[in-house]
Amino acid sequence: MKDKLGFGILGAGLVAPFHAKGVVHSKGGELIAFCDLDETRVTRLADEYKVKAYRSLDEMLRDPRIDVVNVALPNHLHYNAVMACAAAGKHVLTEKPPAMTLRETDAMVAACRKAGVKFGCTVQCRVRKAIQAIRAAVHSGRFGTLLHADATMKWFRPAEYYRQDAWRSLRRAGAGVTVQHAFHYIDLLQYIAGPAAKVEARMTNLGHPGVQLEDTVLAFLTFENGAQGVVEASTAMWPGTDVRIEINGTDGTAIMAGERMVTWKFRDERPEDAEIRNYGNAAQATGASGAAAFGAEDHQVVIQDLIDAVRENREVVIPVSTVRPTLEIVLAMYQSAARQAPVSMPVTDDDAIWDV
Ligand SMILES: NC(=O)c1ccc[n+]([C@@H]2O[C@H](COP(=O)([O-])OP(=O)(O)OC[C@H]3O[C@@H](n4cnc5c(N)ncnc54)[C@H](O)[C@@H]3O)[C@@H](O)[C@H]2O)c1
Repeated sequence: MKDKLGFGILGAGLVAPFHAKGVVHSKGGELIAFCDLDETRVTRLADEYKVKAYRSLDEMLRDPRIDVVNVALPNHLHYNAVMACAAAGKHVLTEKPPAMTLRETDAMVAACRKAGVKFGCTVQCRVRKAIQAIRAAVHSGRFGTLLHADATMKWFRPAEYYRQDAWRSLRRAGAGVTVQHAFHYIDLLQYIAGPAAKVEARMTNLGHPGVQLEDTVLAFLTFENGAQGVVEASTAMWPGTDVRIEINGTDGTAIMAGERMVTWKFRDERPEDAEIRNYGNAAQATGASGAAAFGAEDHQVVIQDLIDAVRENREVVIPVSTVRPTLEIVLAMYQSAARQAPVSMPVTDDDAIWDV
């Protein structure tokens, strides 16, 4: 086995530097190349990191130094890229959402399994210490009966955000606050309290009249375990405030704001609780007011884990198969909003939701 795993980052746009920093600061990973159709973007990043610039994925996949591809393309392009990487025998770390449909997601998971390559997804908020603590407490029964699992994301993105790349305002490219921004927090709810049983959603455009997308979603969730929850997410709320994840049970309440644990209270206070209350970094921006205003630490954890998973021949920390239920909830939200009716799980693909 090589000393270092070689990484190629596909897509040299907004999120690419977060992947690059994760690789550069890893133990056992080496950044080899960026790849983008856009010459200016790929040259700028390749020059900055002093690595190779590719203009086509096929070309990058032929580079024997590349062992892992980070797929950082617009959402509707993940599927073809992941399938090509699997066919070339490269490990893959894809950005969220992994794909636009359950059909594509299942095909990608199967292709990576058949090729014997790792297939992870950067729903990186999962690795935060506050989220890990909340999930462990749910699973050990510390909340008592779980009652509510809520996510509030009141963010702001200006009109220019939607104009800066064509795909950002196209539903068929996987844009819209539900699938693009709220995906992370819907993922946290299903990771902590899932699986979901039923979804009811309403979508509106409150602050971006020039854009044919929902910039706001309100959704009610019913979980299989009987808990319920609300997802309230928007990019219209100036100036944008920290996301809140709130979990309530008969025996306790936990609230994460941004990435900080701001409430951690249980009937059975334990010695470790004092430390858990300090989880998170108050100074860390978390994307509320700017698309690139967040830290690269969580991406770094996911990238380091992939390197370690290859070395240790084990599963990655966030396999795409565990993100499928999040995509299912998101699809259910779009279907519910379109039909103005609740949608029960399991859902099947309804490609018409992407044709708006
Ligand atoms: N995990 C996170 O916190 C996070 C944050 C932002 C974005 N994202 C995700 O990252 C992905 C990329 O988002 P972004 O904001 O960086 O988008 P972007 O538009 O800034 O960058 C995408 C790049 O892909 C390039 N591209 C398009 N088609 C290509 C092709 N066929 N071959 C090579 N390059 C091609 C474009 O030229 C562009 O530079 C999306 O899936 C998005 O949801 C995740």
